[in-house]
Amino acid sequence: MKPSVILYKKLPDDLEQRLDAHFSVTRVPNLSPETVAQHADAFKQAVGLLGAGGKVDAALLEKMPALRVTSTVSVGYDNFDVDALNARHILLMHTPTVLTETVADTLMALVLSTARRVVEVADRVKAGEWKKSIGPDWFGIDVHHKTIGIVGMGRIGMALAQRAHAGFGMPVLYNARHHHKEAEARFNARYCDLDTLLQESDFVCLILPLTDETRHMFGTAQFKKMKSSAIFINAGRGPVVDEAALIAALKDGEIHAAGLDVFEQEPLPQSSPLLTLPNVVALPHIGSATHETRYNMAATAVDNLRDALEGNVEKNCVNPQVKQG
Ligand code: GLV
Repeated sequence: MKPSVILYKKLPDDLEQRLDAHFSVTRVPNLSPETVAQHADAFKQAVGLLGAGGKVDAALLEKMPALRVTSTVSVGYDNFDVDALNARHILLMHTPTVLTETVADTLMALVLSTARRVVEVADRVKAGEWKKSIGPDWFGIDVHHKTIGIVGMGRIGMALAQRAHAGFGMPVLYNARHHHKEAEARFNARYCDLDTLLQESDFVCLILPLTDETRHMFGTAQFKKMKSSAIFINAGRGPVVDEAALIAALKDGEIHAAGLDVFEQEPLPQSSPLLTLPNVVALPHIGSATHETRYNMAATAVDNLRDALEGNVEKNCVNPQVKQG
């Protein structure tokens, strides 16, 4: 008999077939208590859980006594109660490498679109405002050779540093938990404490996971330390930033502009003041959202589930230490 798994995200058809070849799959639309109650037997029997976007906490785990592996179609795993998984020796698999370059492209898109006001001026063209040769009220600011400060020098930070250094001649500052010798050697990146990075950077780019330590790490004090000409970019997790403080900093001219792919609440409510500010580019969490990368993430997640259930946790495992015998 094939092992039972729960799938809570639609995958490309061929990947769902790959899953069906190995598992008995119960497909559910989400992980809400209603859905879990409706499919109680399937949740009780499942040894695997595959998807993205739902909370996997102690309450859900109680309904899944047979669970051995969770596989998320994402690099971030802030939706998972890792302590609760560890306590039950349940493996957590994620997709850390396949999306690196694509997310770095998104960060660079935010850098360019905020500095050069791409979205705002394109909207003005569509609105019929381009009637004569443009003047300074359409101008942006340069990106090339400006200083970029990267907070979080993981894989994506490295890929952003490469673009900034090699493509745009930008001096790279970075702040991270550890010094990153490779970033220093390849991109001439300079390690700074956070205050120095905030004071010296023209672009402050945040690529941090959400943890107890990073929640609201950016607030009024951090925005006050930034240059009034600085542009703030966040493509990590929304709650790393106190959004009310960011809105105040943008309104008060503490910083020049913001490019945001992530928000405290997603989808971003239509009532958010961020949507009324011309100096904000707000994207719908598209960091990894290309056809190619989303396919590769889904394929990785399917393979991760199979590998982990077979005891292979050499790559893409958040908590390999919990592997049982
Ligand atoms: C996207 O935000 C991810 O964690 O993959």
